[in-house]
Amino acid sequence: MKTTAESEAIDQRITHLRTEIREHNYRYYTLDAPQITDAEYDRLLRELESLEAESGAPVPDDSPTRIVGAPPSTTFTSRKHGESLLSLANAFDEAEIEAFVARAVDGLGRDDLSFIAEPKVDGLAVNLRYEHGALTIAATRGDGISGEDVTDNVRTIAGIPWHLKTEQPDALPAVLEVRGEVYMSKAAFAALNEVRDAEGEAPFANPRNAAAGSLRQLDARITAKRKLAFFAYGVGLGGRALADSQSELLQKLQSFGFAIQQTEMADTLPALLSAYQKLLQKRPDLPYEIDGLVCKLDSFELQDRLGAVARSPRWAIAYKFPAEEVTTTVRDVIWQVGRTGVITPVADMQPVSVGGVVVSRATLHNIDEMQRKAVYAGATVVVRRAGDVIPEVVRTLNIDESAEKPVIPTHCPVCAASVFRIEGEVAIRCSGGLSCSAQLKERLRHFVSRGAMDVEGMGDKLVARLVDEGKLQNIADIYEFDYRELTDWSGLGEKKIANIQSALEASKQRPLARFLHALGIRHVGSATGASLATYFGDLDAVMEADEASLLAVPDIGPEVAASIRSFFAEAHNRDVIHRLLAAGVQPAAESVAATDHPLAGKTVVLTGSFASVNRRHAQEKLRSFGAKPTGSVSAKTDLLIAGEKAGSKLGKARELGIEVAGEEELLTWLNW
Ligand code: IVH
Repeated sequence: MKTTAESEAIDQRITHLRTEIREHNYRYYTLDAPQITDAEYDRLLRELESLEAESGAPVPDDSPTRIVGAPPSTTFTSRKHGESLLSLANAFDEAEIEAFVARAVDGLGRDDLSFIAEPKVDGLAVNLRYEHGALTIAATRGDGISGEDVTDNVRTIAGIPWHLKTEQPDALPAVLEVRGEVYMSKAAFAALNEVRDAEGEAPFANPRNAAAGSLRQLDARITAKRKLAFFAYGVGLGGRALADSQSELLQKLQSFGFAIQQTEMADTLPALLSAYQKLLQKRPDLPYEIDGLVCKLDSFELQDRLGAVARSPRWAIAYKFPAEEVTTTVRDVIWQVGRTGVITPVADMQPVSVGGVVVSRATLHNIDEMQRKAVYAGATVVVRRAGDVIPEVVRTLNIDESAEKPVIPTHCPVCAASVFRIEGEVAIRCSGGLSCSAQLKERLRHFVSRGAMDVEGMGDKLVARLVDEGKLQNIADIYEFDYRELTDWSGLGEKKIANIQSALEASKQRPLARFLHALGIRHVGSATGASLATYFGDLDAVMEADEASLLAVPDIGPEVAASIRSFFAEAHNRDVIHRLLAAGVQPAAESVAATDHPLAGKTVVLTGSFASVNRRHAQEKLRSFGAKPTGSVSAKTDLLIAGEKAGSKLGKARELGIEVAGEEELLTWLNW
């Protein structure tokens, strides 16, 4: 029999060995950088095996003796934090900081308070769990209560110790949560974007996004290449015993091997405000991005006495910096064509660094906005990053009235089709429709999407690639392109290609309603597509319909009618449709089962709630019987079916002398 002390010693050694072997697995399999020889590794594993046998306790499935290696995971596991992570209330001016200090003074009944001023690093918060000094779990902040397990990724960050450095390991809490910010330096961010640019990948907008994107990689080897860094600024579970104040805690965290930021103590409001001003001055020279100053009451005892409101402590506040503004020159105003053909003016500027990001383009939103801000080629403008992300022109300085103002395009800058402006709207649009290449990608994506032609396997990436390679120039090309050409491209096997081909074949039989929706005509979504299909019955009739007959369709008003008319009036749109038909696309109106149904051909409106049927289902069913259910009562309505709590529609129907039926009759019609 072993004594209790002997058993405990064995258990402790087992725990230690499991942690150590897991770390070596990770270094070997994930980082590809083993720290010990294979022989040493085997020795550790054998020792663990024999101790597990000796102890007689059940061996858990995740013991290194039971699993081989550390393969990359496929999803992030959710981890509950030992203690919730709070967030900070924001202050934007001196008055708000004054109020914060006053609340603390009032709450504590004393005015000899000492604050610590820390830069607010712009990265993402993580919670590091150390058990007996060894890092076991690292999780993102998540909702503050639980986050995503990013342990493997965090282990690649140089500034995060796997083991806390300490002279007295026994004095460490059994579990200690260390909190801080994972960030990317300005230099690492610039270098990363340069590489991404060279490799044709989209650059990250700012270091914070880059840090977040890099940390949330399923393959930790990618994170390892990203040069992330870390500053510790707090503790959770097990942390209180370490120190009596924030300033003391930071020293302790530094002694454990963490990087900490330079901070400043402030005993008065003016001292806090001056710490803020000093940091604001220093901001551009710091090697990493910060977005404010965090003021924390230093003493833990006083922090505890103040407590928290909702999710923010009363003892700390973030004094945010104003969005950085810089001036630069506009080189030109260019016109960008969006998905739906909207043409937007964009300022092309002399590249300038705003809050750590080099900016050379800023949207001017629309012509009115461009004119209001008086933006023109040669203008000196003030630029800032709205919400610190999207660059925007704030105003023009020293407006030169005689300077040449941007010419508003009369033709699409991409496809040269004429430009139109819808009354009451600020945007100008390209009339090029399906033949405009700038609109093409989005149009194609819409065409093959689920609610439209539903071509499975034809994802966004493939569509974009086919457009970029010049393989798809309009919708008709989708059916004309020879997909066997794709075998030469990497990533797509023959099986995948065959699947795409059969999905395309299947899509040729989609009903007319879906086909009309797929064409991407402005204002024609799936409901209008269905109304048109039901009303006209076949594609030719829709294409030939004049505005008056379009207006006769339930739910179609003048704006929609005009849009449909102008779409089919364009020769290039008609041409694309003819090519689609020639390729075998056969849009057919959904067969109407029972033409002898009493409501066949009738325009009906359902209103109110029905006890035994769902209104939507009822509408669908009536549609399949040849009825034309619509949403609003008008002179075109043949019948109103009113359920409980029918409101204004019932009143309107009575006013117009329209026949009104109830739920009982509805049930009879549904069960026809
Ligand atoms: S203290 C209760 N200190 O800002 C205090 N946070 O909204 C909790 N942050 O999620 C945080 N630098 O991601 C603290 N020196 C600093 C910080 C800091 C950046 C971030 C952190 C937190 C957010 C607060």
